[in-house]
Amino acid sequence: MRIATCIPVIGGLILATPLIAQVLNDDVALRPDYREGAHYTTVTRGGITEELYTSADAIEAARAGDPFPEGTVITMDDFRGGELTRILVMEKRAAWSDRSDSGSWLFREFAPDGTPNMQEDGTRCQSCHASQGANDYVFTRDNMME
Ligand code: HEC
Repeated sequence: MRIATCIPVIGGLILATPLIAQVLNDDVALRPDYREGAHYTTVTRGGITEELYTSADAIEAARAGDPFPEGTVITMDDFRGGELTRILVMEKRAAWSDRSDSGSWLFREFAPDGTPNMQEDGTRCQSCHASQGANDYVFTRDNMME
């Protein structure tokens, strides 16, 4: 009897743990080799310099006027006063469309050492990028044409 009443409790804990740990943008990873992909533009504004990287497939899709392919990752190194201060990543997966206001893109911020910023679940990022629906949610899509 005792054992039987314990089982649902343990089962409940095991099930509940991943739900508590799940953050909206948990699945977005920083690829260690992103700088080996296509560096397609540099954006400068005041003391800020941003270096932008994606895959050759993504550039090809932009040039063809197609939506970005499933699995596209765009990574942005953000330098302030010449120092890398953060790395911003957006990644597109059809399965994420119910978690995003920006199509099926999720967003995540990392420190220069690759540690994710756990205070940033990407909601703020999504709502600003949502204005770029006509460009598949990517502000610098036109820069891929150059
Ligand atoms: C207030 C609006 C705004 C917010 C909030 C925002 N972005 Fe952006 N993002 C931009 C703009 C504008 C650009 C184009 C580059 C530039 O002008 O700096 C951009 C560019 C990017 C790019 C390069 C691809 C593209 O769309 O051009 C990535 C990756 C990115 N942002 C990720 C993020 C992440 C991750 C967050 C949240 C931590 C975030 N952004 C929050 C406005 C925003």
